[in-house]
Amino acid sequence: MREAILLVGGQGTRLRPLTLGTPKPMLPVAGVPVTVHQIERARAAGVERIVLGTSYRADVFAEQLGDGSHLGVEIAYAVEDEPLGTGGAIRHAAAHLVSGPGDPVMVLNGDVLTGVDYASLIEAHVVADAAVTLHLVRVSDPTAYGLVPTDAHGRVLAFHEKPTTPEEIVTDQINAGCYVFRRSVIDTIPAGRPISVERQTFPQLLAEGELLQGVVDDSYWLDLGTPWDFVRGSADLVLGVAPWPGHVPTPALILEGAQVDVSAEVGGGSTVGTGCRVGAGAVVRGSVLMDGVSVGADAVVADSVIGAGAQIASGAFLSECVIGDGASIGAGNELRGGARVWPGVNLPATAVRFSTDA
Ligand code: GDD
Ligand code: MG
Repeated sequence: MREAILLVGGQGTRLRPLTLGTPKPMLPVAGVPVTVHQIERARAAGVERIVLGTSYRADVFAEQLGDGSHLGVEIAYAVEDEPLGTGGAIRHAAAHLVSGPGDPVMVLNGDVLTGVDYASLIEAHVVADAAVTLHLVRVSDPTAYGLVPTDAHGRVLAFHEKPTTPEEIVTDQINAGCYVFRRSVIDTIPAGRPISVERQTFPQLLAEGELLQGVVDDSYWLDLGTPWDFVRGSADLVLGVAPWPGHVPTPALILEGAQVDVSAEVGGGSTVGTGCRVGAGAVVRGSVLMDGVSVGADAVVADSVIGAGAQIASGAFLSECVIGDGASIGAGNELRGGARVWPGVNLPATAVRFSTDA
């Protein structure tokens, strides 16, 4: 039986306040949790059983994904009492695997959208008889990732996680957060304590002379770790730039029960969640409106994520913002360039404030 471990226990700090109540992998992109997009792609590649390595807000996964039968896979849960780091989580999850020592097991970071062909990655792993096969992508600024230089045959030479010195920036190839492990290699990771697969396990395997193989691929790839990449990933799915089998590309995804005034302009790959209301003359561009959001007449929401039940009053202007669940942005407010509003916060209408000050 083909198995995968999905690492979904991180705190998603860079996506706060959205991740205060919902773990990052369960936030909806194009109306569907990131984890569900990943499970569907893994299943299409022949994965039948998935172990979710959870820690932060573990309850949310079990509630929404259950035993996985509605997604066509079998899901098991490996819940860490304390976060064990990426390597510790893989080792902890291995207790739930049924694969034999020589079998290939896929391991996926839980916040990545990608078009990589998982089946051919597993095939390459088996053919090379590698200890681990890593999916690599090329990016223009690799410093926020794990750098993975390889030789002419794809053999991994080193692993520099989040390099800080210029000497470490030796390649534009980065770890894409998708691995195929020989199962017996997972069992060599020390159990019961925090371990980083990137900073400890991979360098150690290299020092021991194990074959780590990198497969560079140039299909769609995006880590959804920051608010701006999160909205971009969601818009890319809606617009058909990111792979989403069965989806018909559209300028905007209006989910069931949402009401959009005919004079409103909703596009750029926006998702308008269930029960949202978008008023006359409003503009919603490249944004994610979670369920039950209301956007008043003539308001503008661009490249932003708006949490469930938030209210954006008439004439408010939001660009590159993250608005927490249930927050209320009063009329006339203008928020730009990375502003974050915490859940439930009420920003009064600016017109009222100005007249009071005057
Ligand atoms: N179960 C569990 N326990 N999962 C964890 C833990 C933990 O203690 N810590 C992190 N994770 C999960 C996160 O939920 C996420 O899905 C994944 O591991 C990676 O964590 P991130 O916090 O998103 O790491 P990153 O994006 O900074 O870097 C990683 O991904 C890059 C590619 O997207 C590294 O693997 C880099 O090397 C890589 O380039
Ligand atoms: Mg990440």
